[in-house]
Amino acid sequence: MMNVLFKQIDRVLIAQLNRPKALNALSSELMYELLTGLENYDADSSVGCIIITGNDTFFCAGADIKEMASKNATQMIEEDYFNHWERIAKLKTPIIAAVSGYAFGGGCELAMMSDIIYASENAVFGQPEIKLGVIPGIGGTQRLTKLVGKSKAMDIILTGRDVSAIEANRIGLVSKIFPQKDFMQHVLDQAQKVANYSKVALKTAKETINQSLETGLKSGVVFERKLFHSLFNTPDQQEGMQAFIEKRIPQFNNFN
Ligand code: CAA
Repeated sequence: MMNVLFKQIDRVLIAQLNRPKALNALSSELMYELLTGLENYDADSSVGCIIITGNDTFFCAGADIKEMASKNATQMIEEDYFNHWERIAKLKTPIIAAVSGYAFGGGCELAMMSDIIYASENAVFGQPEIKLGVIPGIGGTQRLTKLVGKSKAMDIILTGRDVSAIEANRIGLVSKIFPQKDFMQHVLDQAQKVANYSKVALKTAKETINQSLETGLKSGVVFERKLFHSLFNTPDQQEGMQAFIEKRIPQFNNFN
C-alpha cells in the first residue's frame, strides 16, 4: 500500500498521508515516499502550492514509536535519525499543512515545517514526547518556541498536553481555523489562490520570510530589498504591473 497519496488539482499538489492503521505515524518508509514525492513536485513548474494533509480524524500521530523503540544512542547518531526530514523545510514551493484531528509529536513538527497551518475546528496539536521519556527531535523545541514564545512552548512541551485548534490559533501556531464541514474545500480555495501567483515571486517571499528567523532586522531588510530588486528581472513582474495599469487580471507565465 502506498503510504502517501499524491494528487494534483490544477496548480495545487495534495500529499495525503495514508497509513490509517497506525494513525499516519511517520515511518521511514512513509517519510521516504513523502520526501522524494515532494522534491519531485517542488521542481515542477506546474505546481504552485503543496498541501500536506491526513484525514478527517487524524493528521498524524507522530514519528513511528515502534520503529524507534529498540534503537540505542549509537544507532540514532550513526543514522542521524530525523536529520533528512529537514528536507521538507528546504522545499521552495509554498506548503500548507491542512490539519484535521490530531497532529502529535512529529505530526505537529511536520505541520510546523510547512509554511501555513490551516486547522479544522476539531484539530488538536501536541508535543507529547516527554511522556515517552524523550524530547521532540524534528525541530519541535525550536520551531514551536519561535512561533509561540518560550513560556507557551515550555508549557506545551514540558506537560505534553493537548492544544486545541482555538488555542493554537490564539497563540500563533495555526494560521487560521476553518469549519470542519468542507474543510478541505476551504483549504483548497486558499491553495489555488496562492498557486496562481507568480511562482518565482512566491519562492522569493517564502525565502525572505524564512530568512527573518535566522537574521537580525537590519540585515534582513537588506536581504529583502536585494531580492525585491531582483524580481524586476522577471516577466512576471512586468506582467503583474502591466495588468494592474491596464485594469486586467495578470496571466503569470511562471517563468523561473
Ligand atoms: N507510532 C507508532 N504507532 C502508533 C503511533 C505512533 N506515533 N500512534 C499510534 N500508533 C498506533 C497504535 O500503536 C495502534 O496500533 P495497534 O492497533 O497495532 O495497537 C494504532 O496506531 C491506533 O492507536 P491507538 O489505539 O493508540 O488509538 P487511540 O485513538 O486510542 O489514541 C492517540 C490515539 C492519542 C494519538 C495515541 O495513539 C497516541 O498517543 N499516539 C502516540 C502519540 C505520540 O506520542 N507521538 C509522538 C511520537 S515521537 C515523535 O513524534 C518524534 C519526536 O519528535 C521524538
